[in-house]
Amino acid sequence: MTDHKRLNDWVEHVASLCEPESIHWCDGSTDEYDRMAQLLVDAGSFHKLDESKRPNSYLCWSDAADVARVEDRTYICSENEADAGPTNNWQAPAEMKQTLTGFFKGSMRGRTMYVIPFSMGPVGSPIAHIGVQCTDSPYVVVSMHIMTRVGKKVLEALGSDGDYVPCMHSIGYPLVDDDGNRRDDVPWPCNGENKYICHFTETREIWSYGSGYGGNALLGKKCLALRIASVMARDQGWMAEHMLILKITSPDGDARFIAAAFPSACGKTNLAMLNPTIPGWKVECVGDDIAWMKFGPDGRLYAINPEAGFFGVAPGTSDKTNPNAMASLTENSIFTNCALTDDGDVWWEEMTDDAPAHLKDWHGKDWTPASDKPAANPNARFTAPARQCPVMAPEWEDPAGVPIDAILFGGRRATTVPLVVEARDWRHGTFLGSVMGSEKTAAATGGLGQLRRDPMAMLPFCGYHMADYWQHWLNMGEKGGDKMPRVFCVNWFRKDDDGRWLWPGYGENSRVLKWVVERCQGKADATDSAIGNLPNDGAIDVSGLDIAGSDLETLLSVDAQAWKEEVSSIEEHYAKFGNQLPQGLKEELADLASRLG
Ligand code: GTP
Ligand code: SPV
Ligand code: MN
Repeated sequence: MTDHKRLNDWVEHVASLCEPESIHWCDGSTDEYDRMAQLLVDAGSFHKLDESKRPNSYLCWSDAADVARVEDRTYICSENEADAGPTNNWQAPAEMKQTLTGFFKGSMRGRTMYVIPFSMGPVGSPIAHIGVQCTDSPYVVVSMHIMTRVGKKVLEALGSDGDYVPCMHSIGYPLVDDDGNRRDDVPWPCNGENKYICHFTETREIWSYGSGYGGNALLGKKCLALRIASVMARDQGWMAEHMLILKITSPDGDARFIAAAFPSACGKTNLAMLNPTIPGWKVECVGDDIAWMKFGPDGRLYAINPEAGFFGVAPGTSDKTNPNAMASLTENSIFTNCALTDDGDVWWEEMTDDAPAHLKDWHGKDWTPASDKPAANPNARFTAPARQCPVMAPEWEDPAGVPIDAILFGGRRATTVPLVVEARDWRHGTFLGSVMGSEKTAAATGGLGQLRRDPMAMLPFCGYHMADYWQHWLNMGEKGGDKMPRVFCVNWFRKDDDGRWLWPGYGENSRVLKWVVERCQGKADATDSAIGNLPNDGAIDVSGLDIAGSDLETLLSVDAQAWKEEVSSIEEHYAKFGNQLPQGLKEELADLASRLG
């Protein structure tokens, strides 16, 4: 309880609808975390990992049908369908609330309802925003403890009348039915038939039902910090983006900040904390998934990371590819859908060169390297406190944010898109972001590997009409003028016809960051091409790197025929937005077509 009447009334309303057995207000303390974790161990949901190998850490296996965000069950419920745009599922708010009220009715019977006051961003920062999540999932409570700032200090910041985003969540697995019959709980309760992730963007409310996993259930992350925040940002003149934030310092001590938008499971966490392979350069992490950017008093864009932890893709993470992520999760971490080793630690594909001889896979079944299925789910994740990352930038919790020098867009493109290209100006950069494409990953259910347009990596996260969002980008550029960041497109994922990576990626991506910084410093020249400014011959530092000259040439050239096909595909993509497509972007597309001849 607090002395915030609206909040108390809302919590009471949720409780009377969901009928939990009891209500627990979260204080965010270590003691609370430990009690919740023990509760999960006792329920058979958490497995405590070996204390000497992975102190204070737990492994959890989800229901096999609740392993990723459910984009086809995610809705933007604005009053007018047109405001949600062609890329979002929509239903009228009143209708959706009626449907969902039916599902939430009694959905917490036999369970405790946890009330989680949380801050996205440092508590009390002028850029931060507060949410309160009601949930019947203790897994969500411990996860929110790591991913956000939870507890009393948030209620204090809220005072008796502060604004918060109400976030109602139920896994949809009541333990008592309408007739009062009790059933046993299961290790990962969720609703097998109905899942709804709903955003009431005008009234700024979130209702999430049926799933306990990741972005479906940790409502501060995609639901609040992206879908709801993108609408607030449009209305208030700032930006809520699916971007990592990094600090990069050149050998002469010049520090710059770069934000980068890549779709889910396309390398944000990796880039955000990479160890540069080029001597004398240093990269530090500010955030790995979300950036909120507002104009500062000097007219530049300042970014904060609204989160306090990493919810990172486990498979592929290793001491070779991302040693700083590995160091972040050595203790005090939660692992979901990873495999269990015989000595009580976790494992996932590519964590080590050789797989252990025996594991329990993410279904809890015996697994050996002879198995034809992966031991960890492809969207298995670690949840780790950001403060444990050895390369967090000292500024990462600065309430004023960090000034952004460059924005990168990138996706998984096996063909066509070069290693790096610089936009000619902000409008051209907005164009490049709006036509971004990527081959689909396991971070969302369905369609693995298919190319889809994922504008600014926001396709699943934009809370309103995508074309209006592009117009907002153009408006921000008008306002910021020549103080806006430079914009670049990058692609670490080019392959040859045999499926071999053309670029080594990971730490070697520092070579591309170096060129980006040198462009910001005015030190590197570039060559104008049909698609933007390409690095001059020799401008990408490949010293000490074993890469074939022909591969580098493929990575840095424009295949005019492939780009003409790309133009047709972009025309199809843009056609979805009809008259709402900003004039400036139409002109950019026409310009690209005419430059290609
Ligand atoms: P979300 O948390 O879903 O938003 O994902 P993310 O963008 O943070 O992705 P992450 O950094 O966790 O990378 C996901 C996958 O991409 C991992 O399996 C990595 O191994 C792979 N990956 C990351 N960087 C590179 C790279 O430079 N080259 C190649 N080939 N793969 C990469
Ligand atoms: C993503 O899918 O972009 C994620 C993971 O960062 S989730 O929180 O599940 O959305
Ligand atoms: Mn993400």
